[in-house]
Amino acid sequence: MQVKVARSAGFCFGVQRAVDTVYEQAEQGVRPIYTYGPIIHNEVVVRDLEEKGVRVLNGKEELSCITEGTVIIRSHGVGREIYEQISEQGLHCVDATCPFVKKIHRTVERESAAGKQIVIIGNDRHPEVEGIKGWCSTPAVVLESPEQARNFELPKTVPLCIVSQTTFNYKKFQDLVEILDKKRYDRSVVNTICNATEERQAEARQIAGEVDAMIVIGGSHSSNTQKLFEICSNECKNTYYIQTVEDLDLGVLRSTGLIGITAGASTPKKIIEEVQTRCLN
Ligand code: F3S
Repeated sequence: MQVKVARSAGFCFGVQRAVDTVYEQAEQGVRPIYTYGPIIHNEVVVRDLEEKGVRVLNGKEELSCITEGTVIIRSHGVGREIYEQISEQGLHCVDATCPFVKKIHRTVERESAAGKQIVIIGNDRHPEVEGIKGWCSTPAVVLESPEQARNFELPKTVPLCIVSQTTFNYKKFQDLVEILDKKRYDRSVVNTICNATEERQAEARQIAGEVDAMIVIGGSHSSNTQKLFEICSNECKNTYYIQTVEDLDLGVLRSTGLIGITAGASTPKKIIEEVQTRCLN
């Protein structure tokens, strides 16, 4: 059996950086250590960190109850007021916001201060969008669907600055911008979509097309893992979805020559390596 692991499998750069930061702080940071929201949507990692003394703060209220220690901001980022609250409470702040998200914060801060109406293309309930809104000096508008874009109305004298949630689908983003364009606003568009997700999908598609069997690793509620599974299944009929190495059925893979492996965005490297090692042994 030979195994080919996708280079883009698992954490993207921003999430890897944030998770590494939390492990570093757990070793040498000012205790107690908290993350503002779970660092990733992976229970195994969150539990492991808990065992190392890292606790999760669920929102502003829980933050307001703590009096000492370190608060780590995760890759999604947060609005300005959270930084202010951390500093007012005399806590240490360790910022693991993904630099790509940080760049959006700087853009909307600057452009809203210059009098532009910020339009965020994304999901209003997503924490990243929450954070972006929190850097606008005037309330931002969030648009997710063509219908919302069609219903969007503002006096034409107000210039717009359009940005996107980093994980938003590029095609949908373009469609919404096109709808707004028809309304003839004075607008600037900053494409802030990160290509980590797209790269992961493109590589998965390519590998699945070359191998005899494909393994997709990821959490059961992870929509990006489901999407990977769908893409791989279209290319390779022997595509298997597993959550951990325990789910791996080597029986079905026994007579397979080349096996491909990819993993969803919240799958730790350790799990990917365990699956790879099991296939090779
Ligand atoms: Fe990841 Fe940062 Fe892109 S968190 S998906 S590398 S914006």
